[in-house]
Amino acid sequence: MKLEVLKYPNKKLKKKSRSVSKVNQVIQDLARDMFETMYLDNGIGLAAPQVGELIRLIILDVALIDPDHPEDHKPDPVALVNPEIEKAEGTIEYEEGCLSCPELIVPVTRSEKVWVNYLDLDGKPSKLTAEGLKAVCIQHEIDHLDGILLVDKMGRLEKDMYRKKRIRVAKDEKALANIL
Ligand code: NI
Repeated sequence: MKLEVLKYPNKKLKKKSRSVSKVNQVIQDLARDMFETMYLDNGIGLAAPQVGELIRLIILDVALIDPDHPEDHKPDPVALVNPEIEKAEGTIEYEEGCLSCPELIVPVTRSEKVWVNYLDLDGKPSKLTAEGLKAVCIQHEIDHLDGILLVDKMGRLEKDMYRKKRIRVAKDEKALANIL
C-alpha cells in the first residue's frame, strides 16, 4: 500500500523517533509499504517518520551500478531497524534531495564511509559497511529519526524563505493544521 509522505514543515518530521523494542509483523508490513512508497516516488531512501510513524526504521535502495553497464541497475534494498553508526571515516559532499522537502537540493558534507549496527526485519542483530552515496543516504535517513531535515543544513535566510514557500503551499492544500 502506498503511504502518504509528510512534507516540511509538518511537525511530525521534527520529532525524535523511539527505538523499536520488537521487530514484529507490524514493522515488517510498514517496511514493505515504505519500499512501495519509495519506489513509486523514485526515492533512494525513506525513514518511518516521513510516513508519520515515529519509530527508528529506515529503508534504502541505492542501486549498485556497474560502470561498464550503467543501464543494468541491480536493486539493493535494505531495511534497518534501530540503526546506529558505530564508526565513520572521511568526508564527502553531495547535493541531497528529500521526498519530504519538495523542490529542494542542498549540498551537505557527511562521512564518506560508515559502519552501521542495526536489526534486520527478522530482528537479527546485523552490521553493514557503506561508502559514497549509500553512506550519505544512511546518514540522511538516520537524521530523520532525530528530527533533523535537509532544511536544517541550510543557512537561516534560505531556510526562512523555503519555510514561507512551503507554508503557502500548505495553505493552498488546506493542510495547515499539521504545521508547527
Ligand atoms: Ni529525507
